[in-house]
Amino acid sequence: DKGLAVFTSGGDSQGMNAAVRACVRMAIYLGCKAYFIREGYQGMVDGGEYIQEANWASVSSIIHRGGTIIGSARCKDFRERAGRLKAANNLIQRGITNLVVIGGDGSLTGANLFRQEWSSLLEELLKDGTITEEQRKKFDVLHIVGLVGSIDNDFCGTDMTIGTDSALHRIIEAIDAISSTAYSHQRTFIMEVMGRHCGYLALVGGLASEADFIFIPEMPPKTDWPDRLCVQLAQERSAGQRLNIVIVAEGAMDREGNPITAEHVKKVIDDRLKHDARITVLGHVQRGGNPSAFDRILACRMGAEATLALMEATEESVPVVISLDGNQAVRVPLMECVERTQAVAKAMAERRWADAVKLRGRS
Ligand code: F6P
Repeated sequence: DKGLAVFTSGGDSQGMNAAVRACVRMAIYLGCKAYFIREGYQGMVDGGEYIQEANWASVSSIIHRGGTIIGSARCKDFRERAGRLKAANNLIQRGITNLVVIGGDGSLTGANLFRQEWSSLLEELLKDGTITEEQRKKFDVLHIVGLVGSIDNDFCGTDMTIGTDSALHRIIEAIDAISSTAYSHQRTFIMEVMGRHCGYLALVGGLASEADFIFIPEMPPKTDWPDRLCVQLAQERSAGQRLNIVIVAEGAMDREGNPITAEHVKKVIDDRLKHDARITVLGHVQRGGNPSAFDRILACRMGAEATLALMEATEESVPVVISLDGNQAVRVPLMECVERTQAVAKAMAERRWADAVKLRGRS
């Protein structure tokens, strides 16, 4: 008789709906009440109509839809204890003690803190008379499972995050389209792709589309990169190639930590090679649209596993994130992954590039 709620938090990604659907349907199948929390943590804090019971039909015909039908938000209120106190009460009043959070590392860290504080939040609610002793006893443990929804593939501990494959499809389609017009006019295109602190999309997108040069934050070039870039592009042209494609990840920088933007790259090409160069910034197109088959299936498997993990959780269980390891959906301790992901960010900020790559490992 304890409910399970699912919510999406932070930036959206393709496949989140498939994950929501799988969580809800697996919960119903196992005889558990399922809820949506709309608009991420904000909905949990605000309660009321933001927390709704879901049924089998309410997740019909969403597997193919991009974005998240239950909305997502970045929430300031939840960062304060007062916000988390309101959120805890909203969950208790509905009998929800199982949460599936679908988001990036910030959202998952927030969930972990919430779980750690849960008993003290309940104590406080009991003291001020908001909940009864019976409620405190009945709902004394909060179980949390995370799913990583992010196009960036920037989370340690999983081979792929939900949305990455679809974003890659979008990138490849765009590069293919740009290549045909670039070919006609013998142009050079500089394409900026997303990935905040992670060059996965740029790297794999570039490899799959035969790009001539790729800038990613994890492998910053020396400050003489303009020379190397120009030699490379000039060589391609003199070998008979009619176009050049350069991919710049949005977080790209040189070894000194200076940002490398599409504009910088264009200026170098304009000044030194006098190519007809253009910039295309793919932006949120990469995050939108229908999920690929891979993301739909990945999200279905992860969503179902998330619900199973919650149903099997005991008082001693630590929060887990459902990860893809090889071709298996596995449970990995959430905080281990978050800490490793944060260590990568720290290593990059401190310009310890080799450490960052090593820490990120297979993911
Ligand atoms: O985290 C995913 C991501 O797509 C990043 O690659 C990008 O920097 C960021 O979100 C942009 O997000 P928003 O426009 O929602 O702030």
